[in-house]
Amino acid sequence: MRVAITGITGLLARNLLFEILKFYLNDNSDLEIIAFGRSSESFPLKKRIATLLKNDGIDYVSSGVDGFSSEMLSKNIIPIEFDLSKPNLGISGQDLVTLKNKPIDFFFHLAAISDFRPAVATKEKLVKLNIEGTNRVLELASQLKIGEFVFTGTAYSYGTEKGVIRPDTINLSDKFRNFYEESKLLAENRVRQFCKANHIKFRSHRPVGICGRLIEEKIGSICKYDTFYAWAQFLLRQKMKAVKDKKNVYSEQLSMPLRVLCDPEAFLNSVPADYAAKLLWALSYYNDSGQSYHLANEHEIKNDTYLRIMLKELGISGVEFVNKIPEDMNKTEKLYYKSVGRIYTPYLLENNIRFYTDNLKDFRKKHGIACPPMNEANFGKLIGFAKENHFGLEIS
Ligand SMILES: NC(=O)c1ccc[n+]([C@@H]2O[C@H](COP(=O)([O-])OP(=O)(O)OC[C@H]3O[C@@H](n4cnc5c(N)ncnc54)[C@H](OP(=O)(O)O)[C@@H]3O)[C@@H](O)[C@H]2O)c1
Repeated sequence: MRVAITGITGLLARNLLFEILKFYLNDNSDLEIIAFGRSSESFPLKKRIATLLKNDGIDYVSSGVDGFSSEMLSKNIIPIEFDLSKPNLGISGQDLVTLKNKPIDFFFHLAAISDFRPAVATKEKLVKLNIEGTNRVLELASQLKIGEFVFTGTAYSYGTEKGVIRPDTINLSDKFRNFYEESKLLAENRVRQFCKANHIKFRSHRPVGICGRLIEEKIGSICKYDTFYAWAQFLLRQKMKAVKDKKNVYSEQLSMPLRVLCDPEAFLNSVPADYAAKLLWALSYYNDSGQSYHLANEHEIKNDTYLRIMLKELGISGVEFVNKIPEDMNKTEKLYYKSVGRIYTPYLLENNIRFYTDNLKDFRKKHGIACPPMNEANFGKLIGFAKENHFGLEIS
């Protein structure tokens, strides 16, 4: 089995890597995972992969099983340095030989940037990486023998549709909440056309916002704090400026007058990273007859419920939900609507949609893959992990 994954250091890609390593834990003699990624300023790609296996992967892969080390998990991984923005993805001649020397059963293209900001520079970056970068990945794919190409778009490519949202609708002339959503749809459409023209089997996934793990250890684990976490991160950052002793940043109560434009009766749909990874892998491995899927949760949580959980956990009072942006904004509100509020508000007002997942029902039943419901208890576990890690902020 030879699998390629782009963006290996990312949230979903690393969980997919862990899922495949777990799947082959007892017999991995025939497993090769080509891990496309980047070196960081401080660490080469190989070291980044070793670190994520040690700090996160070992819990997922071998929790409850003795005798496994992260070094042992590394031996099936071939790191390949690549950059979406470079001609030929910046892949070395030697790595190209490695890629071409055997067919790849499944090629998962997950690397992308998720930047929702409206700036022109952001749009340019989204074009360069999500659209042109995907084109470069397809140019590479055309030189390789690939059994199945798997693309990950976004559930929010549905634009302005209402009601039941299908996972294969493509309406390029629709209005989007931001250019990120549009860039993902344009890229998905391009991949569909490419696979059709080149007779390559194609599968597409559209995830909703991805949250921490709720099936595999460590429960709550997540490597970045965007989507709903970013909302809490904003409040925590403001609170840190106000508390006397940062050690008490959660226990000290703070009143923060902030009017948040939000529909408290609307719902958040968030999918745990491990459940998404299990579906991603199993649908390809067991060769499900479908092609397009939502990676979404059947159990949504009301805005009013989860936002209040976050406020309680952060020890913040004084936040009100309102139905229009206040005209007489205070300092915190000005900052909120310039930053996280600007990005997150359209999602806090989104109602009357349901992501269609019925095409997964029989498959999930047959393979015993159940989605942890997004209820108060599970949401609390996610926030528990995020708090341990201060929502990605430095507390000193
Ligand atoms: N997370 C969500 O809630 C969500 C929701 C819907 C859809 N999706 C889609 O699902 C996929 C995975 O998302 P994710 O949130 O797991 O991703 P992520 O955590 O943001 O990771 C993105 C990955 O892409 C890599 N990358 C960024 N710029 C690159 C470049 N110029 N060259 C090469 N690699 C580059 C990053 O590498 P570095 O680590 O080196 O930066 C990282 O490995 C994406 O296609 C995303 O659009 C995600």
